[in-house]
Amino acid sequence: MSNTTLLKRIQSSFIGQQTQYPLVDGSISPRRYFDSAASTLMMRPAFEVAQNFLEHYSSTHSELHFSARGANRAYDWAHKRVLDFVGANSDIYSCYFAGSGATAGFNRVASELAILRPQRDVVIVSEMEHHSNDLPHRKHASKVIHLPLVGEGANCGGIDIDVAQETIKKYGSRINYIAITAASNVTGVMTPIHELAQLAHSVGAYIIVDASQMIAHAPISMQSEVLIEADIDVLIFSGHKIYAPGSPGAVIASKSLLKQTSPSEVGGGMVKNVYIEHFTPSDNLPEREEAGTPNIVGAITLACALDVLLNIGMQSILQKEQHLINLAWTKLSEIEGVNLYGPDPDQLPRTGTIAFNIVGFDHGLTAAALNDYHNIQVRNGCFCAHPYVREMLKRELWEINLDPDTPDIEAKVERKRGMARASLGIYNSEEDVLALCHAVADLASRQQEILLAYQPQGKSGYRHREFLPDQTTLFDPVTALEQSLKKL
Ligand SMILES: Cc1ncc(COP(=O)(O)O)c(C=O)c1O
Repeated sequence: MSNTTLLKRIQSSFIGQQTQYPLVDGSISPRRYFDSAASTLMMRPAFEVAQNFLEHYSSTHSELHFSARGANRAYDWAHKRVLDFVGANSDIYSCYFAGSGATAGFNRVASELAILRPQRDVVIVSEMEHHSNDLPHRKHASKVIHLPLVGEGANCGGIDIDVAQETIKKYGSRINYIAITAASNVTGVMTPIHELAQLAHSVGAYIIVDASQMIAHAPISMQSEVLIEADIDVLIFSGHKIYAPGSPGAVIASKSLLKQTSPSEVGGGMVKNVYIEHFTPSDNLPEREEAGTPNIVGAITLACALDVLLNIGMQSILQKEQHLINLAWTKLSEIEGVNLYGPDPDQLPRTGTIAFNIVGFDHGLTAAALNDYHNIQVRNGCFCAHPYVREMLKRELWEINLDPDTPDIEAKVERKRGMARASLGIYNSEEDVLALCHAVADLASRQQEILLAYQPQGKSGYRHREFLPDQTTLFDPVTALEQSLKKL
């Protein structure tokens, strides 16, 4: 099968793409999912392989029955697929699975590197980071420097490489590592990670890359094609952001670095010998980093999704998404009363994410009305990137100019402090993007009607005054279980 045919078939293979919900006008239609930056839908073939594995399920860590042997082989294969996907030679790098997303990986690496090089007390991050690639470093390092972004206000974003260079020169041998996102989860703006790696290595610092928002959207390679000094030391991403919900986070790290650290998680499966007096961790990677019974089903699902994407080619996916994001940017910028955030995609490349606000609407109202009137699912708020969102919104927040005695002032500010975010997955089509733009234009043109139709709820919620769909619209595990039990 050619990669174009595979791409086409895979695009319509996702579980839940056709799930239907009711709308304010009484109709029922399939949802349009634009929330992939939070979590992607499940790729059906990957899910089916994992289901198939359940026919053979057994834990790993044993070689003596068929099922355990199969589980070991599949789990090893999952590690190898991850390494291949991120262009990491298995002689140089090892991959381990951690927690249920990227956050576990950042916490582990931050604590291990702080113990490894206490004399290097500085960590550099950017103002664009997700809290998961910021707070773990604040917890473990004495000083965390936040690199400022290019530009200021609504259109800021991206790393200023000259400022990064000056900062790295200034702190020199005090820097333990630079932890940087490959792409922002708010605006999708990409970072020149290999250039930063070279700068980090020039002062003996490591580079950790948060690939959570890049992994499903663009090719990424830990090894530079040009210079060994530009290689990435550690790369972390969440499996649920690349079409394998329920899968673990993945950490890929150079073996030379891992061998210097001692594992921060201990327990079964990672030790050579345990005596009452002491224990000796295994020398084998990645076992040494994977204490406890692994999430084998999740790892297999993830590896299958990666395998399919490798066959399609990440370059084709990038091109497709760039076309869609440019289309969305152009169409949304043509709508009067819509603010777009982050740099223009013509100036700085971005992955498939656009943050916007409809002037006069709080971010929660935009998200609720897109859902209720158009069956379009977007996320809203600050997306766990408060410093970046606050910077982009600073002018708008000044302009609110609320009287400090306004009743319920905290909730009112909170409702304004945020954006709506539409993010793409491989399943989104040009038709979806045009539907999104049409829906935003529709809501912007019916301001008064929409404002009157909703009631604010709490700090960021909005509830339609009349459209109160029956609770059975929402997924309910108890009903689903009952139905499944009836089939027994
Ligand atoms: C850029 C980025 N980094 C880290 C994370 C944290 O990922 P998880 O919640 O899967 O641990 C996210 C999640 O949204 C993200 O977008």
